[in-house]
Amino acid sequence: MIPPSKLSPFTMLLHLLLLLLISTSPSTSQDLSPSQSKTLLRLQRLLEFPSALSSLSSSSSFCYLPPSPSFSLSCSSGRLTSLSISGNNTSSFTLSSSFSSDSLFTTLTRFPSLTSLSLVSLGLWGPLPSKLHRLSNLKLLNLSSNHFSGSIPPQLSTMTSLQALILSHNSLNGTLPDLHPLSSITDLDLSNNLLGPDLPTSFSSNLVSLILSKNHFHASIPLQLQSLDKLQKLDLSSNLITGKIPTFLFSLPAIQYLDLSSNGLAGAFPVSLSCGAALGYVDVSNNLLTGAMPLCLRSNSSNLFVLNSGNCLTGVNPKNQHSGSYCNQGALAAILPPVEKNNTESKNNHLGLILGIVGGIIGGGMVIGLLLFVALRKIKPKSFDKNLLPKSSPGLPTIQVSPRTPAETRHMSQAVRIGTIGLMPYRVFSLEELEEATNDFDPGHLIEESPQGKFYKGWHRDGSTIMIRCIKLKQKYSAQSLVQFTDTLSKLRHRHLVSILGHCIVSGQDNAGMTIFLVTEYVSNGTLRSHLTEWRKREMLKWPQRIAAVIGIARGIQFLHTVTVPGIFGNNLTIENILLDETLTAKISNYNLPALPKNKNNKCGTW
Ligand SMILES: *[C@@H]1O[C@H](CO)[C@@H](O)[C@H](O)[C@H]1NC(C)=O
Ligand SMILES: *[C@@H]1O[C@H](CO)[C@@H](O)[C@H](O)[C@H]1NC(C)=O
Ligand SMILES: *[C@@H]1O[C@H](CO)[C@@H](O)[C@H](O)[C@H]1NC(C)=O
Ligand SMILES: *[C@@H]1O[C@H](CO)[C@@H](O)[C@H](O)[C@H]1NC(C)=O
Ligand SMILES: *[C@@H]1O[C@H](CO)[C@@H](O)[C@H](O)[C@H]1NC(C)=O
Ligand SMILES: *[C@@H]1O[C@H](CO)[C@@H](O)[C@H](O)[C@H]1NC(C)=O
Repeated sequence: MIPPSKLSPFTMLLHLLLLLLISTSPSTSQDLSPSQSKTLLRLQRLLEFPSALSSLSSSSSFCYLPPSPSFSLSCSSGRLTSLSISGNNTSSFTLSSSFSSDSLFTTLTRFPSLTSLSLVSLGLWGPLPSKLHRLSNLKLLNLSSNHFSGSIPPQLSTMTSLQALILSHNSLNGTLPDLHPLSSITDLDLSNNLLGPDLPTSFSSNLVSLILSKNHFHASIPLQLQSLDKLQKLDLSSNLITGKIPTFLFSLPAIQYLDLSSNGLAGAFPVSLSCGAALGYVDVSNNLLTGAMPLCLRSNSSNLFVLNSGNCLTGVNPKNQHSGSYCNQGALAAILPPVEKNNTESKNNHLGLILGIVGGIIGGGMVIGLLLFVALRKIKPKSFDKNLLPKSSPGLPTIQVSPRTPAETRHMSQAVRIGTIGLMPYRVFSLEELEEATNDFDPGHLIEESPQGKFYKGWHRDGSTIMIRCIKLKQKYSAQSLVQFTDTLSKLRHRHLVSILGHCIVSGQDNAGMTIFLVTEYVSNGTLRSHLTEWRKREMLKWPQRIAAVIGIARGIQFLHTVTVPGIFGNNLTIENILLDETLTAKISNYNLPALPKNKNNKCGTW
């Protein structure tokens, strides 16, 4: 090479530029990392090789593929940041029976930098898995025109970066989770599903477009819509919405497009109704409206288009209107606005009270009495002591392996059989797995620190959310007593318990004692208390749901009483310790654990 001193300033500059270009280009225009590329190819396989991805092969430079309407992606620093795949098949097309929405989203969570994801018209089917929320950087999620079914996972409300959520044209059902925490969301389209019966009552104030048409929403239009001063488009058409025509919608400050057609809205407009300055499209056709149209909606104009046929309106072309009796009959069926409940009962820890509250006051006496009889038969009065901790209770069972009577065995096996449906098999976890799940027991994962131990929330690599309870033992136990102990732990699995999924035992340094990690289910839908009192934030439990919760609690207690001999009593039953899962199944948490055999005094936590 020529020594630098022999070069002219110009060539030196050229060299320098060249050097700069060479050294910077890999970092600015890097292709996907090998692991991300592999994941993309796996996605192609999971989606059963849609024609949109036909250009994808292991030799592709993914980040440089030319975008097309059916497939585009973008990358940054070797990671996938946006992905859009659209099929062009007919709506009856579904992927084969080996497709798994769970595997799909597990794979997608390997793209943690994704901010935009569209998987449209690809024949995807199955439930929307709750792990979806782990794509926490998503601003746009479009899963339109597939066959997703079941309910929308409540975890979705933690995806606070979301600006647009499009789940239209699927088969989603059930009530909507609380989407209020999605404070950045501007576009929400859930049209063409089976959602209902209740309309959501809290909304992010940044909503610009809210499309809930073609669902099964009953109820009346929530007054809370009044606060949406950025709302431009509202489509509630083709539901079963009842109640009086909500006149405030017409004068929302930003409203441009308002479709309330094909519902059961009744009543007359006030003549003095005012229309928002930006209003350009109104459709109130096919309702049960009576009286005259308000002045500002009386005729089409160059900037306002109005549709109103199929009502009982006066002063308009009668050919397109029903007779008055049609609307009156229908209006009688309109449902009264729901009575808002005000539950301000104080905190309590008595099972009877829990059941009483859950049951409500009306007409439940017989059922409650019966359940109380079943549930309380075996509870000793002292077991209601709120401060009862395992370590201080002489009445706690030690593990017993003595043979049971045939009746007990029958009783047990039935309870166990009902109990463990749907849980992963009990197993021993490795410390590495738990470290991975909690990011090395990062303080951010610590949920609670109490005398019962430290509680961490974690994400297992299989995609499930788990709770890890860490208990330090200050003394050594024999291998045999540990085996007995874990053997009993492995039985604490029941539909109405926060069940134990497995454990991990780590011996301390210098034989100084051990740590037991109990891995349990993570139950995410709040406490029973919150479902009965936080009526502003969530829907109140309905009568059948309360009964189901009561029966569930009773079953859980019965299980604890019979799972070991003697049973596990006490169990710290408070309304806060009953958790509900996504299907509103009641689960007892914080119940007592069987004591370790040969237990002696120790100062740390439970044992
Ligand atoms: C459309 O469906 C066919 C199978 O019927 C499939 O081979 C093709 O990949 C699908 N196209 C898209 C874009 O998903
Ligand atoms: C579907 O899209 C693929 C490209 O993605 C195209 O080759 C094919 O012709 C399209 N089929 C139909 C029926 O539009
Ligand atoms: C979502 O996908 C549908 C179907 O391709 C499309 O019409 C719609 O514009 C998309 N929405 C957004 C916000 O990307
Ligand atoms: C929702 O759909 C699933 C099947 O996809 C069904 O099992 C469930 O009962 C439905 N739930 C409601 C509330 O309709
Ligand atoms: C506005 O125009 C449409 C289409 O021409 C018509 O169906 C509708 O009845 C008109 N609305 C009013 C209020 O005249
Ligand atoms: C509930 O009722 C109590 C008194 O009965 C009242 O003080 C409280 O403000 C009410 N709460 C709500 C949210 O209405």
